[in-house]
Amino acid sequence: MKISVVGGGYVGLITGACLAEKSYHVTIIDIDKKKIDAINLGRSPIYEKGLEELLARHSGKNLLASTGYESVRDSEISIICVGTPMGEDGSADLKYIVSAAESIGRELKNSGGYHVVTVKSTVPPSTTSGTVVPAVMSASENNPNIGFAMNPEFLREGIAVDDFMNPDRVVIGSDDKKSGDLVESLYSDFNVRILRTGLVSAEMIKYASNSFLATKISFSNEVGNICKSFGIDVYEVMEGVGLDHRISPYFLNAGCGFGGSCFPKDVSALIHLAKSKGVDPVLLRSVLKVNEVQPILIVDILKKHLGDLNGKRIAVLGLAFKGDTDDIRDSRAVPAIERLIMEGADVHAFDPMANENMKAVFPEITYHDSAAGALEDADGCLVMTEWPEFSRLDKEFDKMKKRVIIEGRRILSIPDAEGICW
Ligand code: UGA
Repeated sequence: MKISVVGGGYVGLITGACLAEKSYHVTIIDIDKKKIDAINLGRSPIYEKGLEELLARHSGKNLLASTGYESVRDSEISIICVGTPMGEDGSADLKYIVSAAESIGRELKNSGGYHVVTVKSTVPPSTTSGTVVPAVMSASENNPNIGFAMNPEFLREGIAVDDFMNPDRVVIGSDDKKSGDLVESLYSDFNVRILRTGLVSAEMIKYASNSFLATKISFSNEVGNICKSFGIDVYEVMEGVGLDHRISPYFLNAGCGFGGSCFPKDVSALIHLAKSKGVDPVLLRSVLKVNEVQPILIVDILKKHLGDLNGKRIAVLGLAFKGDTDDIRDSRAVPAIERLIMEGADVHAFDPMANENMKAVFPEITYHDSAAGALEDADGCLVMTEWPEFSRLDKEFDKMKKRVIIEGRRILSIPDAEGICW
């Protein structure tokens, strides 16, 4: 089967490369010529475990990349994987979705073969039926051979290839059986539960899933803040909580909160959607509120030990929104550093991968090539990312002027670090 994947970003690349691994003939379409050239040369424009190997195996063979949409004409399925950034008011901005839908529609104008346009991007409920269908139908001059489906992604950055190949579930939304059946056939080789729903439910499943995971994290953080006031360890408490199979042990790690390109954006979008329908999303608003408070709280704990931070040298270890990535989007390190700067602290930062990206946000702070460099002569230290290598830090802390070490992620193995909520 021939497939066109629109969007060569993180979701599109993983989807295209993994479907090529499953022997489909895939063309990835993107406007960025540099990205297209890299893919065609078998080089990955982003770092993602296992992706480079997949590209090396399939690029130029059954995986091609192009800046044009011509491949859509001979494909049976096109998969829209473009971004849906957060607009000013927290809503999802659909401009890339509309443009992809129109371009696909134009290619399908005179096409006689059956083709299913599938949305994989995270889009607000009703976007496929209310925005994508009309855009494709109008651009294709109402070609009757086009079907529509919604197939959300549940990929975590860093382990996205594995998540694609071994999913917990595959959700396929369609309002007609034929469209859903064709998309389902893509997964015939996967040993996985496939859930068939309507288009709008599939869209909502993605928002509800991310919002629930974000809720678990904010819940653990709030319970952690309470545990700390009792002098008990939230990790021990959550271990006991997570053993209940109705709860599960995952995503209960308390700390400085969730970041990344998905949770903050998707919870905000669901809040916006609820309000637009006259529903007050009390719980979701609190989820974001707890998340905003945690990075402020960690600086407050530091101040309890050091008093006024003006002129004090503070090491910040970890800038990425989680370990094993250079992605700093909505990283909890950003509001913490903002606060430190506001308090007049002299910030010395280190991240194994994300220093360069953070320089664009905070050019005024000092960056180091090692944790030891950032810790030298520091009055205090904040740990903001769960980098595995931080668990091996030990003697490096002896370089500090004062050993005041506050962890926003439970990662250090030294006895005198204080946790944000443990
Ligand atoms: C998240 C979801 O996990 C994916 O299922 C989803 O497909 C993806 O968003 C998306 O919508 O595209 P991702 O943003 O890559 O994936 O990152 P996660 O591994 O989920 O972590 C998100 C944030 O939560 C990180 O800042 C992490 O440190 C934090 N976190 C995670 C906690 O604070 N505690 C936990 O127990 C788990």
